Amino acid sequence: MLRVVVLVSGGGTNLQAILGAIDDGTIANAEIVGVISNNRKAYALERAKDHGIFARCVSPKDYGSREEFNGKLLEAVDELRPDLIVLAGFLVVIPEMMIRRYRNRMINIHPSLIPAFCGTGYYGLKVHEAALARGVKVVGATVHFVDEGTDTGPIILQKAVEVHTGDTPEILQRRVMEQAEWKILPEAINLIANKKVSVVNNLAVIQS
Ligand code: GAR
Repeated sequence: MLRVVVLVSGGGTNLQAILGAIDDGTIANAEIVGVISNNRKAYALERAKDHGIFARCVSPKDYGSREEFNGKLLEAVDELRPDLIVLAGFLVVIPEMMIRRYRNRMINIHPSLIPAFCGTGYYGLKVHEAALARGVKVVGATVHFVDEGTDTGPIILQKAVEVHTGDTPEILQRRVMEQAEWKILPEAINLIANKKVSVVNNLAVIQS
């Protein structure tokens, strides 16, 4: 069983998609052993608890410095002995030590087709605002391994979604979640849990 720890900051719809996929067997050979949020009010924490999953908050507000917070976050993650860390809307800069320790064992869902609309400043609704402002006709989502850059790690899965006339950032965000994020994030976890993903020359390779 792959031990999965999910890091969240907000609503937790991606967490919900993972929980549902484990329950209905879409994800095999994986279990969520804990959910950690940087934000005490994150609804994702309730979703985890409702599912009987260990959930806790590690907030930077509770510590005197960023270094101290980074240390506590890593400690909280390590305690759960994860095989895989999933960043599911986790809006915190990942400490370098954590990136090194969990290289190719930490994945992120980003709400665009990387390398479009990604990197510093592109998160949540801002991604969809930027896509609409640019007038692109196709958007989407990406699951990738986490490396030292922002949204630069090996790409595991991507899925495209159409932009419709009259879309608002909120409508587009919802469509990208429904048609792409909630599908490819569980799919990526299932592939990893069943040893179908390897990283070769800094590129993710998927076995069929
Ligand atoms: C999702 O759209 C996710 O792709 C995005 O935050 C949202 C979290 O929603 N993540 C990023 O923008 C990371 N750069 P959720 O809490 O309902 O899963």
